[in-house]
Amino acid sequence: MRILLIGSGGREHAISWKLSKSDRVSKIFVAPGNGGTEIERKCENINITDIDKLLDFAKKEKIDLTIVGPEEPLIKGIVNKFKKENLKIFGPDKAAAMLEGSKSFSKDFMKKYDVKTASYEVFYDYEKAKEYLEISKYPLVIKADGLAAGKGVVIAKDKDEAIDTLKEFMLEDIFKGAGKKIVIEEFLEGIEASILSICDGKTILPFLSAKDHKQIYDDNKGPNTGGMGVVAPNPYVTDEVLEDFKKNIMDKTLKGIKEEGFDFKGIIFFGIMITKEGVKLLEYNVRMGDPETQSILYLMENDFLDVILKALDEDLENVRLSWKKGYALNVVLSAKGYPKKPRKGDEITIKKESKENIFIAGANLEGETLKTSGGRVLSVVGIGETLEKARENVYNLVKDVDFDGSYYRKDIGKAK
Ligand code: AMP
Ligand code: GLY
Repeated sequence: MRILLIGSGGREHAISWKLSKSDRVSKIFVAPGNGGTEIERKCENINITDIDKLLDFAKKEKIDLTIVGPEEPLIKGIVNKFKKENLKIFGPDKAAAMLEGSKSFSKDFMKKYDVKTASYEVFYDYEKAKEYLEISKYPLVIKADGLAAGKGVVIAKDKDEAIDTLKEFMLEDIFKGAGKKIVIEEFLEGIEASILSICDGKTILPFLSAKDHKQIYDDNKGPNTGGMGVVAPNPYVTDEVLEDFKKNIMDKTLKGIKEEGFDFKGIIFFGIMITKEGVKLLEYNVRMGDPETQSILYLMENDFLDVILKALDEDLENVRLSWKKGYALNVVLSAKGYPKKPRKGDEITIKKESKENIFIAGANLEGETLKTSGGRVLSVVGIGETLEKARENVYNLVKDVDFDGSYYRKDIGKAK
């Protein structure tokens, strides 16, 4: 099969690496890809991001299957466009992708189908939202309704901070429309987990659980990032937590997907909080997590292409996922200045024998030289039979990578 994979992150490098192992895959075009996908087996980068141009490319190159990495093209309706032209594509259609594309839409969906989540109110009007802040308890959470490049969620510790956030989102319009409408939400305390799952509209099949580490510094200190490292499985997701998740979140979500008549053949990623009152849903994503994917696909024993094709055939019911024993950890190495203003252009050296353990994110090839081009530069992955062993392995491998200004957390898999 000839595959078109859309995206340019570490997630896409991991997906292309995993797909390249499938005997059924002959070629993977990655649009636009990065310095890692450029040299991955069977892969070729193509410099296209426009949806109509991707469609033309898929037709011209006789692509058998398109896989969408990031949320943006899904929310813009890439799946609808490809399907209209009878092209096979993996991902939810535009209506279903609103589960990630609009916070108010997803909260209303959760309420309608009794999915356990934080209580919330939706506001379109600054004055009304401000009045609500007067009677609220703190901390509370303010979320821009639309996509805001991962910066649309603020945990306000007091009323002053909440009002400042409202002003920025609603009056100054810092997200260019995405924050004109907001969700104000109860603050949940607990331990977060990511449960990526695959959905065919009839069945949701959860992958191994994972734990992201969002803050830049050790002990979960400092500003939020896209994710500084992931351990899978998540050590806090016990069988009991998983049962609670399935009963109160996953099954109810599936009922909603069916009743709304969503065309959902893709990934549904549940961001959950394990609280004293049980598991609650923070958010849906309609794509794989980054860097969750880099750990999860490392442990997946199935042929990922087979699993995706089963989802497209609405046959997930008959799929059994199997996973390597033990743990996979990935540690993100970020560029100097990340997350505020990452520096670009630093030369990266990697010991040859470590290359199978590295997924490139923000780095491009210039000739033969790999140079940093983004905030999260790459992930180093290590596995081990125990969590301790996996930690030891991954931090040994990190020593094989070098670039000026490189930074990473030392407590991946250890922090709560
Ligand atoms: P979201 O995009 O909704 O997942 O929010 C991004 C991050 O903000 C989450 O991963 C959590 O760390 C945090 N967050 C979101 N909603 C809440 C909440 N209700 N209570 C506590 N933390 C939250
Ligand atoms: N690592 C979190 C995300 O992909 O949203």
